[in-house]
Amino acid sequence: MTIAKIPFGRALRSEFLLEEQYVPLNHGGYGACPRVVRSAMRRYQDQAEQNPDRWLLRLVFKHLKENRDRVAALVQCDSPDLTFTSNATSAINSVVRSGFLNPGEKILWFNTTAHSSVKKIMTFLEDTHKMTLVPVELQYPLSDQDVLDITRRAIEHELAKDPKVPIRLAVFDAISALPAVRVPYEAMIQLVREYKILSLVDGAHAIGQIPLNLREADPDFFISDCHKWLFVPRGCAILYVPKRNQNFVHSCIISREYKSTAMKGTVSTPFEREFAWPGATDFSPYLCFNDALDFRESLGGEEEIQKYCNKLARQGGQLVADALGTELLLLETKDEDEPTFAMVNVRLPYMDKHNRPEKEIIDIIFDKLMFERNTSAGPFKHYGKWYVRLCAQVYNDLDDFQYFAQAIQKVVDELEKENID
Ligand SMILES: Cc1ncc(COP(=O)(O)O)c(C=O)c1O
Repeated sequence: MTIAKIPFGRALRSEFLLEEQYVPLNHGGYGACPRVVRSAMRRYQDQAEQNPDRWLLRLVFKHLKENRDRVAALVQCDSPDLTFTSNATSAINSVVRSGFLNPGEKILWFNTTAHSSVKKIMTFLEDTHKMTLVPVELQYPLSDQDVLDITRRAIEHELAKDPKVPIRLAVFDAISALPAVRVPYEAMIQLVREYKILSLVDGAHAIGQIPLNLREADPDFFISDCHKWLFVPRGCAILYVPKRNQNFVHSCIISREYKSTAMKGTVSTPFEREFAWPGATDFSPYLCFNDALDFRESLGGEEEIQKYCNKLARQGGQLVADALGTELLLLETKDEDEPTFAMVNVRLPYMDKHNRPEKEIIDIIFDKLMFERNTSAGPFKHYGKWYVRLCAQVYNDLDDFQYFAQAIQKVVDELEKENID
């Protein structure tokens, strides 16, 4: 694919299918697909329709393997240890509902920062699998060392309470969603391993936003959405399971490939076979890694993209905070650090005393931003304080943050007026 190099910023927006006047600052929510990648996906869909048998019995597996090899090189792992799933939620479901977690065993998880779907998956495991949940609270701002110390203390405390009941699994983020924080997940993997606890890393926001080296990080399970930050069409995620764990993990969709035996060919191991066939479906998003990565290379490659987005998030976030007369969440402790990821949490002014339910306020802010101001970003409350999460992408520039500052100021002013009236 050859496309002319367009500079990062507003000019690049036309390469995506986003509405002309829309100011998108919530890329981490659902991602956005470049035009060329979307066209490629439609070509694969057309190809499938031209000869469904040839496609679904043979050709699709060859294309899946080519794409898997390319993404494995990006995240630095062996290709047969990776599989595609439709999204992060289904990948996490597959791991935790595989059947290796026994009633009464414990799961360590981070209840104040976990994604809402993960919270519900934990509740489900407690209800149906009779797992004991061990919640760990992270009240940001915290340093990486604080996070590790809090985690170690929680494990020690739990083991001291009842040394005979094992903590079987720890579920933690690579980058948490709300607040957006780059978690020291590599050190967390090592920490929980000291206690023989399996690590499940929710890296939904990781691929495309931060560099990954899964071989070196060596998690027991790692998942990442690819439709968020990598520009692959929705829904597409990777699930990484190193060989040592493949014999006890199953797809949450049990298909004809359950307990299938090893075979020669492009999809060879039982693990690969089981995950590769969730029943007949449209595999075309999974075939777009090559196209998404080609597009990213045409923009300058991973490092250039990440450098631009990280810097813009920090500068744009600061611009919004200055305009609102507030501050960024992480800068309360990390003023000097280079930004390492592309999301930022900006404190919202005079919101903390609002007495409506949190969910209602979130809905009102989203509605006002999306339908009245033609922009979007995720509002959230963390330990009594209100913030908004802003995401920087290659199609954004500081003008977008400037626009957002005015939009969110109006929204909080309106909310404040309604609160007083
Ligand atoms: C940290 C985290 N985990 C899991 C998910 C769920 O992702 P999906 O809806 O793509 O399954 C999200 C979605 O935003 C997320 O931010």
